[in-house]
Amino acid sequence: MNNGVGALNAGLIGIAGSRAALETPALLLDATAFEKNVATLAALANEAGIGLRSHAKTHKCASIAKAQLAEGAFGIACAKPGELLALFEAGINPLMLTAPVASRQKIDRLAQAAALGCELTVVVDRAELVTDFAAAARTAGTTIAVLVDCDTGLGRTGVTTSQEAVALARMIAAEAGLIYAGVQAYAGHVQHVHSCAERRRVNGAASQRLTAILAGLAEAGCTPRIVTGGGTGSHALDFEDQLLTEVQAGSYVFMDEGYRPVDLHGDNGPVFDFSMFVAVTVIAHNAKGEAITDGGSKSFAIDGPQPRAFLDGKEIGTIAWVGDEFGKLVPHEGVSSPSVGSHIECTVPHCDPTANLHDVIHLVRGDRLEAIWPIEGRGRSD
Ligand SMILES: Cc1ncc(COP(=O)(O)O)c(C=O)c1O
Repeated sequence: MNNGVGALNAGLIGIAGSRAALETPALLLDATAFEKNVATLAALANEAGIGLRSHAKTHKCASIAKAQLAEGAFGIACAKPGELLALFEAGINPLMLTAPVASRQKIDRLAQAAALGCELTVVVDRAELVTDFAAAARTAGTTIAVLVDCDTGLGRTGVTTSQEAVALARMIAAEAGLIYAGVQAYAGHVQHVHSCAERRRVNGAASQRLTAILAGLAEAGCTPRIVTGGGTGSHALDFEDQLLTEVQAGSYVFMDEGYRPVDLHGDNGPVFDFSMFVAVTVIAHNAKGEAITDGGSKSFAIDGPQPRAFLDGKEIGTIAWVGDEFGKLVPHEGVSSPSVGSHIECTVPHCDPTANLHDVIHLVRGDRLEAIWPIEGRGRSD
């Protein structure tokens, strides 16, 4: 642990009441909500007969990945080579890279990790990438499992037709150092559609596109073993559709204000609980008597709805931004401004980039600090 807030808080582990005494800004993981979220999605996937490949882009943390693997996840997905390598070094395996890369140096590093025992799966969306992964695997003396990345409507990466998918699948299968493992079809545009009926409609269109690609692959003798995709927003629809063999959900582990209005199961009920919070302290009152906290955009990713603020477990208001290092508490009607020194826990606008701002996450259970976990992949956007 470096000299940051984790070091300041290390002495509080296991002490009653330590949660409210944490030095701040501190990223918190509520153990009860976290464990419930991991178990809930694992049970739903199990019931549906579909696998989980939990996405570590959300947390970048080996201890969290281990908990997901312990609940039966097939493996852990990563968005970037650096994130994947950091988790491999921290003992996580198998690992899947869910985005194409355009750097031979990064491909070589991935192949070297595979040679060292990383059970690696990558995605490709163009012929040159197949050639590069094959050459890197040959040089490293290893084999790499490869998926064809398919675009079913997100408009980010991936091929769009079954002809392109078949051509890449055949190319992968012909390379000695590569194993054709299947396809990825991540429908990111579906995930945050608030209404369940509308999300079903948008997901249906994506599923139609995926069905056509899968039919073309089957006809060409390239039936995929793995069909990976999906996320927190679409998991229920993915389990219903039975097109994917595994779901790559990430945010479910923490939840955030961006996901809060998404009616996940169509009954307006919460499916996953908020487990991620940023603890801040009131450090001043401004000239208007408003409470100013010590957490701004260096502690929260601010690309989402405002955080809600809790004092002693009670929601007291929201946070408005007043600087990189500062927040302003906007109390709910009838709530008075908390005093200087008050310890406030805040939900987060967007969990993934918030985790990326912190070196450590403080695991809290009830009123006490239970552990401090490093976020090994923090800052690894390479
Ligand atoms: C390829 C891929 N898979 C899975 C996910 C996880 O999605 P969520 O956090 O909505 O569960 C993401 C998120 O952006 C993603 O890019």
